[in-house]
Amino acid sequence: MKKIVILVSGRGSNMEAMLAARAAGQLPVEIAAVISNRPDAKGLETAANAGIATRSLDHKAYASREDFDHALAACIDEFSPDLVVLAGFMRILTPDFVRHYEGRLLNIHPSLLPSFPGLHTHQRALDEGVRIHGCTVHFVTAELDHGPVVIQAAVPVLDSDDESTLAARVLRQEHSIYPQAVRWFAEGRLRLEGGKVRLAAELVADCALIAPQLAG
Ligand code: GAR
Repeated sequence: MKKIVILVSGRGSNMEAMLAARAAGQLPVEIAAVISNRPDAKGLETAANAGIATRSLDHKAYASREDFDHALAACIDEFSPDLVVLAGFMRILTPDFVRHYEGRLLNIHPSLLPSFPGLHTHQRALDEGVRIHGCTVHFVTAELDHGPVVIQAAVPVLDSDDESTLAARVLRQEHSIYPQAVRWFAEGRLRLEGGKVRLAAELVADCALIAPQLAG
């Protein structure tokens, strides 16, 4: 069974979605550890309560981004994961870190990338007046919120939406597509090859079904 390490900075609801999928027998992975750059992250407490090993490395204790990423990689590698899952891990990563985990580092972002990288994606989508918004799981590259796309889910933007209703609608989809992407990886059906996402042929049809989730 493939081993994963999950990195969180806060609430950890995407991590919880992985725990729930695993408990339901839908995610054949060992969650070896949950690591946070914020000692007070709620996600750490949730993981510990679920009996998962947790570690916290406070980024403020390190002199430079490079020093922190070096320590973080050492901490992750103690668990020898096949895949590192960024689940609301709000740090810009150094190129060395990203290179070290090339092809085994996934992120979820609350927009239809390449639109709206960075912060405040839901408010920016509302401000731009887009009609479709959503979320993206992608392999991580050195560029922030960028990289080969594994799966996306789209949601409609309603006239009645504000930032929080739109965020909630997107988050429901995050909790669906992220465990799905990790499951594909765990089953050996998803990989990065020459900078492109390769999904086992039979999955392409599934992916097309999941992507345009336009209902609520
Ligand atoms: C999620 O919406 C995730 O997509 C976003 O942070 C939130 C974390 O929530 N990530 C990014 O913006 C990365 N650029 P969670 O802690 O409840 O999973």
